[in-house]
Amino acid sequence: MREGVNIMTDSPVYTINQARLSIIQGDITRQTTDAIVNAANSGLMGGGGVDGAIHRAGGPAILEECKRIVARQGRLPTGQAVITTAGDMKAGNVIHTVGPIWHGGRQGEPELLASAYRESLKVAAANNLISVSFPSISTGAYGYPVEAAARIALKTVIDFLGRATSVSEVVFVLFDSPTHDVYTAALQEITKGKK
Ligand code: APR
Repeated sequence: MREGVNIMTDSPVYTINQARLSIIQGDITRQTTDAIVNAANSGLMGGGGVDGAIHRAGGPAILEECKRIVARQGRLPTGQAVITTAGDMKAGNVIHTVGPIWHGGRQGEPELLASAYRESLKVAAANNLISVSFPSISTGAYGYPVEAAARIALKTVIDFLGRATSVSEVVFVLFDSPTHDVYTAALQEITKGKK
């Protein structure tokens, strides 16, 4: 694993197996990656937080496709992921995943959170996508403690990028500065000794 800095944003960039992992502060609806990931709920009908922002920015085409998916396969279980159009946004697609609601950590939350990241990346790879942006899944309305969530998010992505996959760029797009700082510190901690 190699460490660098993006000179445009001064954000850390890590290289794993020739894939790039970076952390930025920003609005995921403005990203131009092949996919942006949505922290959705099982009903896939939109909501608040990043889910609301994505549906607002992308327009009604996203909800129409979500409705067709739910009609076909039912509600999306926690830890799983599906792909739709990104509608009017610049990103190519939206990958909707459902993170766990935090109930104290003994109801499978860590495994389910890791699954949400891993399944999103599997959907990206199954569609031959190269670049994916993630928000901080579960740490808003679903109440997952950010420090613990950041470690799981980063470790799961690093593990996935260490294997052969079409995905060669992952960007964590964190909305607020405290969350950005937590992810940056967690990445430094994880990569310590691995360089
Ligand atoms: N870009 C990037 N991140 C964003 C944006 C945005 N435009 N808007 C919000 N966020 C951040 C939040 O600040 C938080 O750090 O996304 C993170 C996740 O928060 P939530 O959106 O509340 O997601 P989550 O905790 O997974 O809860 C999911 O909330 O909106 C509903 O329908 C959604 O029921 C589901 C639940």
